[in-house]
Amino acid sequence: MANILCIGAGYVGGPTMAVIAKHCPQHRVDVVDINEEKIAAWQSDQLPIYEPGLKEIVLEVRDKNLFFSTEIDRHIAESDIIFVSVNTPTKTFGQGAGKAADLQYWEKTARQILENSSSPKIVVEKSTLPVRTAEAMERILNSNDKGLFFDVVSNPEFLAEGSAIRDMENPDRVLVGGRESSSGQEAVQAIVDIYAQWLPRERIITTNLWSSELSKLAANAFLAQRISSINAIAHLCEKTEADVTEVAHAIGTDSRLGPHFLRASVGFGGSCFKKDILNLVYLCEYYSLYEVATYWEQVVKMNEYQKANFVSKMVTAMFNSVAGKRIALFGVAFKANTSDTRESPALAVCRALLEERAQVVISDPYALDNARTDLSDVAEQVIFEPDPYVAAQDAHAIAILTEWPQFAELDYQAIHAAMIQPTFIFDGRNILDHKKLHQIGFNVYALGKPPRTHFPS
Ligand SMILES: NC(=O)c1ccc[n+]([C@@H]2O[C@H](COP(=O)([O-])OP(=O)(O)OC[C@H]3O[C@@H](n4cnc5c(N)ncnc54)[C@H](O)[C@@H]3O)[C@@H](O)[C@H]2O)c1
Repeated sequence: MANILCIGAGYVGGPTMAVIAKHCPQHRVDVVDINEEKIAAWQSDQLPIYEPGLKEIVLEVRDKNLFFSTEIDRHIAESDIIFVSVNTPTKTFGQGAGKAADLQYWEKTARQILENSSSPKIVVEKSTLPVRTAEAMERILNSNDKGLFFDVVSNPEFLAEGSAIRDMENPDRVLVGGRESSSGQEAVQAIVDIYAQWLPRERIITTNLWSSELSKLAANAFLAQRISSINAIAHLCEKTEADVTEVAHAIGTDSRLGPHFLRASVGFGGSCFKKDILNLVYLCEYYSLYEVATYWEQVVKMNEYQKANFVSKMVTAMFNSVAGKRIALFGVAFKANTSDTRESPALAVCRALLEERAQVVISDPYALDNARTDLSDVAEQVIFEPDPYVAAQDAHAIAILTEWPQFAELDYQAIHAAMIQPTFIFDGRNILDHKKLHQIGFNVYALGKPPRTHFPS
């Protein structure tokens, strides 16, 4: 039996440890955080995050071998293996501001581990980090006069929000990187043994430390690049009467390319893609690889353009003015099946519409609380409405900003009848039946497709 500790009870720490606890009943798993409210929520029936299937697992293992606590020091002292999944946001100050990862929470955690340890431990990097962070971690941990040795292992998390539990239960692969020394390899094996409780060994990839750290940044860069690539093609479709859905299908059936991440959208969001690519860009610049840095930075620039261009198209379509017009935004979560709104394109669209003096109403099944916090500086100008039918009442336009499946199933006939004519719908996720909406009477603007309007051309 091992005492496993996870520092950081966020979107990664909570779900990953719940699944580990479920599959490793022989181990005790503690999850700690400095945020008391969050820990209280993990201990209650109102978990701090929404993920399909999460609550069931937490209820199954909580207080059996999964525990949530704010007593960080005590649990460090008692642990054998420590996963660190604290946040690693983009630095907002000093050297590398706007690009480099802010590692202050990370370093504080390393020092806290050292201070409270009286036995050797395996420290696992779960957070996404710049390549070679483990070296700094080892230096902090192993320059001690207690005679203690810490092995640092990299085990980046590849789960996607919205399918975190499914991804943890059945991942494409798990990655564990460590030192080649015998103690480094023993540490790697200890982490492999945890995952091998429910995964076939061939799905657990082991590499050196630096490959593991870099693979996480590279994976996110490739995923985001696919989104920016299809969005770039969507613009060309709009100019040429090609249809981006047809193009995506045609290219995605090529087995070398595959069908995933080829849906044109208002842009990618979430706490990771932008920050991780900017981190990669910063690393490239640090190593004087300026062309490589520019190449990756363009993925982020394309995404910023995507959000701005979406609003610009809305304004142009609505006779060059949205001032005073009620606009219903359907969806504020950065993707479906999550309450997370971090870096959501919907927030950028909302702010840009407010700049244009539109009356913005936001509807979302799970993310309104987070949106209220994100938009607290402009909260008086925004209406938050859980019912999409009420949100669309007397609206001039609807914009679909999250691909929640329920938005495709609404009664658009009734919605159309309750709106101000002429009605506009901007499908920023290409999830609606555009032909049908047009027949109902909407002027329909999708991404990478010719608009369907009732105006003479
Ligand atoms: N969210 C994702 O989908 C995802 C996926 C893969 C990897 N990651 C990476 O995992 C890491 C964590 O991401 P997240 O989304 O879970 O972040 P999060 O903000 O949801 O959670 C991080 C938690 O760490 C806590 N924390 C910060 N400093 C602490 C300290 N010194 N002691 C104890 N707790 C502390 C915070 O209070 C917070 O609750 C990041 O590096 C991220 O890039 C995230």
